[in-house]
Amino acid sequence: MTIENGLILTLSVDIGGSGIKVMLLDPQGNPLTKRARAETPRPAKTEVIINTIVTLAATQEEFHRISVGFPGVVRSGVTETAVNLDPEWIGFDLATALSERLNKPVRVINDADMQGLGAISSKGVELVITLGTGFGSALFMDGKLVPNLEMGHHQFRKEETYEEQLGRAALEKQGEKKWNRRLEKAIASLQHLFNYDYLYIGGGEAEKVKIELPPNVKIIPNVAGLLGGITLWRD
Ligand code: BGC
Repeated sequence: MTIENGLILTLSVDIGGSGIKVMLLDPQGNPLTKRARAETPRPAKTEVIINTIVTLAATQEEFHRISVGFPGVVRSGVTETAVNLDPEWIGFDLATALSERLNKPVRVINDADMQGLGAISSKGVELVITLGTGFGSALFMDGKLVPNLEMGHHQFRKEETYEEQLGRAALEKQGEKKWNRRLEKAIASLQHLFNYDYLYIGGGEAEKVKIELPPNVKIIPNVAGLLGGITLWRD
């Protein structure tokens, strides 16, 4: 499985608030390795995170290009926000910095956008939310992405944002029962706002969703966050 037999392999990286995950993908986007994971270093400064990615990359076989899902707004490889990492990321050219370290081309996209790319059916209006350290969101129309939706920081209820009500800190503070009731309210509110055909719920805490879901709402496995990495190289 190397470039000698004509295969371009992609290292997919998911930078999360609590873990950094990597996996190797074949040209069709199928996983070639088991996911490798390391704790997100704290403080989550640019250099230590890049070092962690480099260490994780060394555990994988040869690859030719890198896709990164980043937990903040990303424009042309530059990270513009990073609420759950460190202010050092504001205005940081992650694509160039990682490319220089690993000598490979790098493309970076918001983590929820990447998760969505790994899950959607590319038909109609599809909304993706991710439940983890933060609250991620991604919107697609016939498979075309509206990048950097950032709904997590918008007001949801009781003067609090979606992330304040449904992020990991809220889950830990309020418990699963209350968090699930809040999620039910969020789903109803999002259906009214977006009139989506499908809503996908991903992220590390999606497995804690216990409510009965409407037929157009689906839980997606967390690995979608890495599988979406292949789409960044499709024009
Ligand atoms: C960030 C989003 C990200 C989400 C999930 C939020 O705090 O603003 O960009 O997608 O967390 O990681």
